[in-house]
Amino acid sequence: KLNNKSIELGDQTKKGTRVKVYGRILNVRAQKNATFIDLKDGYGTLQCVLPAGNLTKTYDALLFAQETALVLHGEMKQVPPAQKAPDNRELHVDYYKVLGAAPSDLDAISNKVSRQSDPWNVEMLDNRHLVLRGENASAVMKLREAVELAFVDTYRDMDFHKVSPPAMVQTQVEGGSTLFKYDYYGEEAYLTQSSQLYLETVIQSLGNVYAIEKSFRAEKSLTRRHLSEFTHVEAEMDFIEFEDLLEHLEEIISRIVDRVLADPRSAEYVKLLNPGFQKPTRPFMRMKYADAIDWLNQQEPPILNEEGNPHAFGDDIAEAAERRMTDIINRPIFLTHFPVEIKAFYMKKDPNDLRVTESVDVLMPGVGEIVGGSMRMEGYEELIEAYKKNGIGHEPYYWYTDLRKFGTSPHGGYGLGLERFLAWIANRHTVREACLYPRFMGRCKP
Ligand code: 4AD
Ligand code: MG
Repeated sequence: KLNNKSIELGDQTKKGTRVKVYGRILNVRAQKNATFIDLKDGYGTLQCVLPAGNLTKTYDALLFAQETALVLHGEMKQVPPAQKAPDNRELHVDYYKVLGAAPSDLDAISNKVSRQSDPWNVEMLDNRHLVLRGENASAVMKLREAVELAFVDTYRDMDFHKVSPPAMVQTQVEGGSTLFKYDYYGEEAYLTQSSQLYLETVIQSLGNVYAIEKSFRAEKSLTRRHLSEFTHVEAEMDFIEFEDLLEHLEEIISRIVDRVLADPRSAEYVKLLNPGFQKPTRPFMRMKYADAIDWLNQQEPPILNEEGNPHAFGDDIAEAAERRMTDIINRPIFLTHFPVEIKAFYMKKDPNDLRVTESVDVLMPGVGEIVGGSMRMEGYEELIEAYKKNGIGHEPYYWYTDLRKFGTSPHGGYGLGLERFLAWIANRHTVREACLYPRFMGRCKP
């Protein structure tokens, strides 16, 4: 597997093929007659053997600090599986050159990160650019790529069109309190919280659509699952009923998992990061919000709300309570029919019970909510009323409101947090580990 720059030098020798290999030092074991270097690059690792005293350069163990970049020449040899060398190969080195030295005190960081990184540790966060070189952190990034591509491929299979809505906007989607405001040529503007409203404007012309874009939320608390900038996988479907939305969600989550596990490389990352992972069994559990409130109160002892009281209809099911729920039930839950008051202005009311919306949160063990979705309000007057009730001035939304004038339809969709999906599938303690460079309150570097 190592490495994209590995060059066969051509001549076959008694021992094997002569090659030239580039890489960085993962670790070094010095023995009496030879020094073993585990060389790595973004593609794999290779065991290199440097016989003592048999080199064109004077061997100096101190030269070989972790992360030193090298080019090595030698003979590639097959070795028996019993030796446990990666890919059962070994490079017998007869010449090397240091391309980029590394300080030996880097070991202190990279030793820690090679398996387990601590997403709460300030030093680790400041050194994210080095932490990413660790085995687990880099596996999460490769798995992230695989998951994102799995979404693209699956949506293509399902005949969804991909669009790219703007990130600079003048409308809120999920409440004013988490808006990032900025000055747009003298006008107030925001970083988008969700592409949903824009997706709703293109189902008429493109059919079912999706976007994978950044969303931004000024979350003023530090939790395991909140970021200021996250990757939002959002889809919108025309001419559907609520039941279709739920079925689609079950289908797409299952297909993504299948696709990730079917690819030998991404399956390997899942195995490394989350050895116990199993594809959730279908059908997913469904629970109405009202039943969830009862369930929370029926636990022994009852799971209380944020004020320390038993849950009442209309309460938010806060992160802690939700986590207890997913830990106890320990399988995906479709939590549906949230009360109108605690959900966004655009959600369609359940015609059978006008106190609640046709809404769904998908909860996963270990993470909690990874998806938020709903059917959308269809009527013009009803939407105008909803803006008013939510204290939203309707002028900037004229283009969204217009949809209800020009051939409105039953439609709905959802948003899935890519980092939360990854935290679930890769069993990460927080979504911070699922970002290249996480952004959350108090951190905007590296
Ligand atoms: O539940 P949310 O706020 O729903 C929406 O934004 C809808 N407009 C989406 C839609 O219907 N098109 O967010 C959807 C998902 C959440 O379930 C969560 O996975 C993720 O986006 N999310 C966050 N992830 C990380 N950090 C945050 N601060 C997040 N806020 C939402
Ligand atoms: Mg939500």
